[in-house]
Amino acid sequence: MSTTVPSPVRIGILGGGGIATAHLNAYATVSDRAKVTAIADVDPEALARREAETGAKGYTDFLELVKDENVDAIDICLPHHLHTPAILAAAAAGKHILCEKPLCLTPRRRKRSATRCRRRA
Ligand SMILES: NC(=O)c1ccc[n+]([C@@H]2O[C@H](COP(=O)([O-])OP(=O)(O)OC[C@H]3O[C@@H](n4cnc5c(N)ncnc54)[C@H](O)[C@@H]3O)[C@@H](O)[C@H]2O)c1
Repeated sequence: MSTTVPSPVRIGILGGGGIATAHLNAYATVSDRAKVTAIADVDPEALARREAETGAKGYTDFLELVKDENVDAIDICLPHHLHTPAILAAAAAGKHILCEKPLCLTPRRRKRSATRCRRRA
């Protein structure tokens, strides 16, 4: 994983629900530095809405999105129980990661996630 990414950083959002709206609004305020290029949601209607709003490429499977070469950083807006699998998949794909709270559901999962991220840093 490279430590620096040219602007705009290409963002892939996992989960297009309520909190993703706040993230999308925030990225819009720094459009010279961040661009949402992909978004994943398991709900086809929610996904279609987000695709139309953002022009980003849609995925129903977040494990596919994390492999997208047009994405530098993954923004995890999924339900809590999916944070660890999303972090591990994004780290394996060599992406930068921003994860909504809580980071993970257990200390053991947090430790595993941190270890995998450090290995890729
Ligand atoms: N920072 C905060 O104050 C704050 C506030 C609310 C939520 N959160 C965090 O954000 C998370 C999401 O909250 P929300 O309010 O947006 O919930 P939400 O239910 O509105 O959105 C979650 C989205 O994830 C999608 N999703 C579920 N399973 C999926 C999967 N396997 N693959 C792809 N998409 C999937 C759902 O279809 C939904 O659109 C919470 O679980 C929490 O971790 C943080």
